[in-house]
Amino acid sequence: MRKPLIAGNWKMYKTTADARALVKGLRSQLDAVVDREVVVCPPFTALAAVAGELRGSPIALGGQNVYWEKQGAFTGEISAAMLVDAGCRYVIVGHSERRQFFGETDETVNKRAQAAIAAGLVPIVCVGETLQERETNATFSVIDQQLAGGFRGYSAGQPLVIAYEPVWAIGTGKTATPAQAQDAHSYIRQSFAKRFGDAAAQAVQILYGGSVKPENMSSLMAQPDIDGGLVGGASLEMESFSKIVRYS
Ligand code: PGA
Repeated sequence: MRKPLIAGNWKMYKTTADARALVKGLRSQLDAVVDREVVVCPPFTALAAVAGELRGSPIALGGQNVYWEKQGAFTGEISAAMLVDAGCRYVIVGHSERRQFFGETDETVNKRAQAAIAAGLVPIVCVGETLQERETNATFSVIDQQLAGGFRGYSAGQPLVIAYEPVWAIGTGKTATPAQAQDAHSYIRQSFAKRFGDAAAQAVQILYGGSVKPENMSSLMAQPDIDGGLVGGASLEMESFSKIVRYS
């Protein structure tokens, strides 16, 4: 059985003080939850503060991006070892905003994921189609291409989480229907099975992301291949994120 995993992607929100306050609140609501994994991904500047607040909590810490080189003259970048040093267990890679605004490609997503795994982090690798791709029936071929490129060099059993995030559903309030999401998740799992075998495909957690809210979490989670959520906007408030984690 795959344990549900709910990750909050805070994007470019929260000062250190705001981040501390949110995490204090989340701990009061979520520290007792044992049947789900919970991850928060603050901006880099708040990682250390949040790590301090999370001491003794089952809530895990994640970064929002990582560079693949170990160290060097790469102004503005953060290495996997630095994320580990800051207390991270997870890191998001290949988010559609990175692909769209920062020139991320399947190749760079792959390098980031590989660097994360090598450093002992669990990469949360994001895939998903744009509206135009969905409307031209290219959803599955786009996902296939992102999986083929993103998972080069990966071997079964290495730590990995996949997030299916249809770009048209991110921050738009338009959630994929549970059936649309299930279709994509099932496709991703089958495609993963072809590459890495059935056991690895049955074990890998596939999260849905794109306007996840307390109101739609339960119906998404009722789908057999949806194993959790990658939550943006609704992860910025204690109440909505706690409700999402505690879906029933
Ligand atoms: P959203 O973002 O929940 O605000 O749609 C999801 C994401 O970008 O991971």
